[in-house]
Amino acid sequence: MENICVVGAQFGDEGKAKITDLLAQKADFITRFQGGSNAGHTVVTNGKKYAFHLIPSGILYENKTCMIGAGCVIKPDDLKKEIENIVSQGISPEHFKKYLKISPLAHITMKYHTDIDGYSENALGQNKIGTTKKGIGPTYADKYNRSGIRVEDLFDKETLNKKVDIILNMINKELKFVYDLKPYTKEEILKELAGYKEILAPYVDFNWQKNLTDIKDNKTILFEGAQGVMLDIDYGTYPYVTSSNPISGGAATGASMGANSIQRVIGVFKAYMTRVGEGAFVTELTDSTGETLRTIGGEFGVTTGRPRRCGWFDMVSAKYSILVGGITEIALTKLDVLDKFDEIKVATAYKNKLTGEITEYYPTNVFTHQNYEPVYKTFKGWKQDISKCKHYSELPENAKIYLKSLEENLKTKISIISVGPDREQTIFV
Ligand code: GDP
Ligand code: IMO
Ligand code: MG
Repeated sequence: MENICVVGAQFGDEGKAKITDLLAQKADFITRFQGGSNAGHTVVTNGKKYAFHLIPSGILYENKTCMIGAGCVIKPDDLKKEIENIVSQGISPEHFKKYLKISPLAHITMKYHTDIDGYSENALGQNKIGTTKKGIGPTYADKYNRSGIRVEDLFDKETLNKKVDIILNMINKELKFVYDLKPYTKEEILKELAGYKEILAPYVDFNWQKNLTDIKDNKTILFEGAQGVMLDIDYGTYPYVTSSNPISGGAATGASMGANSIQRVIGVFKAYMTRVGEGAFVTELTDSTGETLRTIGGEFGVTTGRPRRCGWFDMVSAKYSILVGGITEIALTKLDVLDKFDEIKVATAYKNKLTGEITEYYPTNVFTHQNYEPVYKTFKGWKQDISKCKHYSELPENAKIYLKSLEENLKTKISIISVGPDREQTIFV
């Protein structure tokens, strides 16, 4: 089988975990390539619901190795809680010790990173990003500032000691003078790190170069993205984005196996759109239709419980996602959520309210988005329950018209249609 990369193609929460879990059936190795426990991934199998944050969504299988890649950031105490939570649902701790691997090159989220994330969000007030407050931005900022702590550092006492001496001086100045936050003593930091070492030790793969060489040569790999293209640090609705690259290019850097290890990129889109946190959302519905989408779709965050903002499918941002995300085919999820609607809308273009100009290309300066309104194409609803459909042919005619129109406009094949949260509720086209 070819190696597949699963990428969120909107603002996150598209149902990537369901698609990853399904595709993992045919993979030997599943790797997360970016992000941290800001992600909230739900897998439903046999009516049982599992919530993942950092652990790859393929972990429920036997005989499949799951790796948290070099491009990820790890808050070890959150990872510990995540494992304990899944263990409480019946998966054994030995299963994790056997199948979960962590790249020694991944970065550690320290307490001071979450302190800074929380402070910055409060200080920004109305201009806040609406982050998950998991310390993601500050961890990546330190990584790129070359003052981060990597997993491998925890296992080399001398390096760690030296590193803490160098960075703590800077971090404490930053905490005190920039953020007016409590500085840390070296003892506190070393104690925190010693605790993290203990949590991560069973999973760190120090033989990753040998193992990944073998996997790249002989195994089927599934790359699992978190967040979505429109939250990408380079291509998303900057600055209302996360601090990593959810695009497939992120897999090329974050999974330690290069761009040539990926053959197909599946972009996961919801049949409508949602967003948590602040930032532009041209097709957002703040009326009762948006409320109905939220209620039927159960649109509340897995990580923060925040209600998700809802709106119609946006072809302008979808075309952009397909381009910059390197998407070769589409998985369309939550089509069943539209079952009860009389009419379904899709934005085919944006109209500039000031100039009247119509554009089909995504305006990347999101501060101009207040000047745009969506130009909608309206589809007739199908008004019937599709959640038990197993084959494309069983879908109502109006649903097929909707799907065909998306495919034609996006010039990209829809290869998976999801009609419910369960593994079984999936149509492979
Ligand atoms: P992710 O972050 O992209 O993995 O998505 P989330 O897990 O945050 O959110 C997707 C939600 O939709 C989860 O509650 C899923 O169980 C649910 N879901 C996934 N696919 C479908 C679908 O086709 N229909 C319905 N009704 N729910 C779905
Ligand atoms: P999954 O993988 C939806 C959003 C936050 C905020 C912005 C920055 O489940 O799709 P951060 O904490 O990353 O610095 O927050 O990104 N965000 C997500 N939105 N789904 C996610 O993950 C998200 N991870 C981060 O709400 O707007
Ligand atoms: Mg999610």
